[in-house]
Amino acid sequence: MYNKKYLFNSSLKDLNTFAIDVTAKKIIFIKTIHALIKTVKNCKLFQIPYLILGEGSNVLFLENYKGVVLINRIKGIKITEKNKFWILHVFSGEKWHNLVKYTLNLNIFGLENLALIPGRIGSAAIQNIGAYGLEFKDVCSYVDVLSLKDHKIQRINKNSCKFSYRSSIFKNRYNYDYAIIAVGIKLSKIWNPTIFSVLKNYINLKDTTAHKIFNIICKIRIKKLPNPKKIGNAGSFFKNPIIIKKQADKLISLYNIPYYPQKNGLIKISGGALIQNCKFKNIQIGDAAIHKTQKLILINKKNATSKEVIKLAKIIQTCILKKFNVFLEPEIDFIGPIGKINPLNVLNKIET
Ligand code: FAD
Ligand code: EPU
Repeated sequence: MYNKKYLFNSSLKDLNTFAIDVTAKKIIFIKTIHALIKTVKNCKLFQIPYLILGEGSNVLFLENYKGVVLINRIKGIKITEKNKFWILHVFSGEKWHNLVKYTLNLNIFGLENLALIPGRIGSAAIQNIGAYGLEFKDVCSYVDVLSLKDHKIQRINKNSCKFSYRSSIFKNRYNYDYAIIAVGIKLSKIWNPTIFSVLKNYINLKDTTAHKIFNIICKIRIKKLPNPKKIGNAGSFFKNPIIIKKQADKLISLYNIPYYPQKNGLIKISGGALIQNCKFKNIQIGDAAIHKTQKLILINKKNATSKEVIKLAKIIQTCILKKFNVFLEPEIDFIGPIGKINPLNVLNKIET
């Protein structure tokens, strides 16, 4: 469908996994760094806003985008062998899940816990993707960033990326004019499996392999998460809240909430379990609803508008705050008519 290089005043419905039907003035598929720089230069010349997208699996478009959407398809994978590890230099338009499969097929292990996460490599670094006890930061060596002001590429090493739970120096930066071009991933030749949480029920540490973990995780995810090809969603709409121990202890004992102690003494608790405890009983705003088996995920049942999604999110946020005194912070990016908008500013304006 998207064989063309350019699309004018076209719908973004198939280019955001929430399947919100908004348009962009222009959509351009970008395959080279040169094309990216040239397009951004033109946008600046004519004062047209621009937005880089991977797969659109972590965004909510609030309304029609008045600028150019650049779909990043800058591809390439280079593998360097060292004595004790592999270094992968991966361009930002590669699909994350394809990289996981590609490395496994080469008997290079360590990415298997992050199987089936939608999206492209660049965005994986931005929000430090994570699942089943592993995060992008655990395998990242560096991130190559192109300044869209002076067109210089800077290599930012892992420690300077300030990765944390679903965050990094790249996330929620509203005036940072940059594009992630490539990432460096470092994988040890000595495989050390990560068996976290629910995986313990399926895996025997003694005879496990990276392929087994990959297959199990794919099965769990297919069963539990909505497939964006069939039902619009952007994964977890909210982050799991991280709260002080005293408050967590109370909630855990009262409501039997799954929890994960953090290195700094704070406790991450399951936001999905909190929402479940609110018993929203098939709540639906227009076509926006809560996913049955994973309550952190909001879904677009068919033709939901972003207004409906936001209204539902606000109802959930308000209820969780009233009942548990816990604030649910959105995980996804909100995109307004000319660029990213702080989700908290949008949600604060909604009345329930
Ligand atoms: P997009 O949505 O296209 O972009 C995200 C943000 O990054 C946007 O603000 C965009 O402007 C910006 N951006 C994208 N590429 C670049 C670039 N090269 N340079 C500069 N800015 C850029 N996430 C997890 O962490 N763990 C999970 O288990 C998980 N499961 C999911 C399951 C489902 C069913 C879905 C739909 C989503 C899930 N997600 C999960 C969220 C999502 O897959 C990740 O956040 C993913 O990294 C987003 O990639 P993307 O390419 O689609 O990003
Ligand atoms: N749970 C519930 N109800 C729910 C969801 C979860 O009770 O609606 C409880 C269950 O006890 C379940 C446990 O929480 O066993 C853990 O659930 P799950 O494995 O689904 O993990 P999660 O904490 O809800 C996080 C990520 C997911 C990631 C999974 C797997 C966030 C915001 N979400 O969800 O990432 O795939 O862990 O590790 O951290 C995403 O970021 O978009 C995303 C989907």
